[in-house]
Amino acid sequence: MANVTVIGAQWGDEGKGKLVDWLSNRADVVVRFQGGHNAGHTLVVGNQTYKLSLLPSGVVQGKLSIIGNGVVVDPWHLLKEIEGIRAQGIEIGPDLLVLADNACLILPIHRDLDQAREAASTNKIGTTGRGIGPAYEDKVGRRAIRVADLADRAALEAKVDRLLAHHAPLRAGLGLPEFDAAGLLAELEAMAPRILAYAQPAWLKLDGIVKSGKRVLFEGAQGALLDVDHGTYPYVTSSNTVAGQAAAGSGLGPKGAGYVLGIVKAYTTRVGEGPFPTELFDEVGQHLGTVGREFGTVTGRSRRCGWFDAALVRQSVALNGISGIALTKLDVLDGLPTLKICTGYRLAGEPIGYLPAGLKAQSQLEPVYEEMEGWSETTQGARSWKDLPANAVKYVRRIEELIGAPVALLSTSPQRDDTILVRDPFVD
Ligand code: IMP
Repeated sequence: MANVTVIGAQWGDEGKGKLVDWLSNRADVVVRFQGGHNAGHTLVVGNQTYKLSLLPSGVVQGKLSIIGNGVVVDPWHLLKEIEGIRAQGIEIGPDLLVLADNACLILPIHRDLDQAREAASTNKIGTTGRGIGPAYEDKVGRRAIRVADLADRAALEAKVDRLLAHHAPLRAGLGLPEFDAAGLLAELEAMAPRILAYAQPAWLKLDGIVKSGKRVLFEGAQGALLDVDHGTYPYVTSSNTVAGQAAAGSGLGPKGAGYVLGIVKAYTTRVGEGPFPTELFDEVGQHLGTVGREFGTVTGRSRRCGWFDAALVRQSVALNGISGIALTKLDVLDGLPTLKICTGYRLAGEPIGYLPAGLKAQSQLEPVYEEMEGWSETTQGARSWKDLPANAVKYVRRIEELIGAPVALLSTSPQRDDTILVRDPFVD
């Protein structure tokens, strides 16, 4: 199979960055297809740590990297991230990075709106405050500024006016000052040449790449349960995060997604608000948070932690058409005497094997657990199955059985090479 699509199979932060970095070694091109700089990837390569939010992870490997049309792009942030990576010794020119010319921009008005809404709301979502939601709203509202618009100064002015006219009453309602249109135009104009240098019809570039038989790696951000359609709505992000979006968010047809690799953490975490049936508030939850270093890369917020939820991942396997999973952070469970896996739920006393759509029902689910014996040995850094304690192997096998998908890769530390390969997604 030529292409691989990597997606988070839970609520994000499953450790996609390391796996994408590992797989991009085997790929020719890496493509982002949704989200924006709300994502946060930490890549540890040798003694260097790279923090990426918007740039596809392939840049670290010197692989052609594409930011697809499905991504919302804060151009100032993008330029800052490029500078940061350049300061670490990696030059990112237009030969390495392609930005879809039909991607929509995140502007300061979007960030203002996102943050002011969160501050004013009694029903907070817990967003990253980076303007993602408001930017997607303007995209579907057909009033967004797109990358290509930066090239047409005359049309840009009218587009900015129209956009600001839409935002004016929203800002007034939230007590925000009127936005300075002339200032925004001047800033857009000043930044435009640096951004336009990367702009291309990304779909066309991808079409050529695929026709020449090259391997494409699609890099998802967030996780399937944060998908705007399929997630725990309204406590979701504003894009489709499921694997199907790899096609629409890049301009490659649906057959292009290839092998779908779901990244699955050996327990569960989520940042922000919303239902979380297996959440733990005890010392086990604290263990997972501390040992797993569960703090958001983007916002620094503590992540909520809980037991592995097999019902939720089973749902994710179906929603994404997952071919196989990469299981991460198994070592965080080292030393816990007993482990619990949620196999399904009870709702109003009745068994239910999936997360229902209603928010009320989601918040009333009682997890049904199965207990397993833990292991006292360390699994950190294991590079083959025989390095794993028997109970750890049992835990992994039980997960495979319950979710209905095989483990293709097992990641045993943040280091690139601490990975057990069961099957190579690129050749499966
Ligand atoms: P937004 O994407 O900033 O609008 O935030 C909406 C929800 O998605 C919030 O609960 C965020 O915490 C969550 N979210 C956004 N990006 C990530 C991510 O990369 N990892 C985990 N959660 C995320």
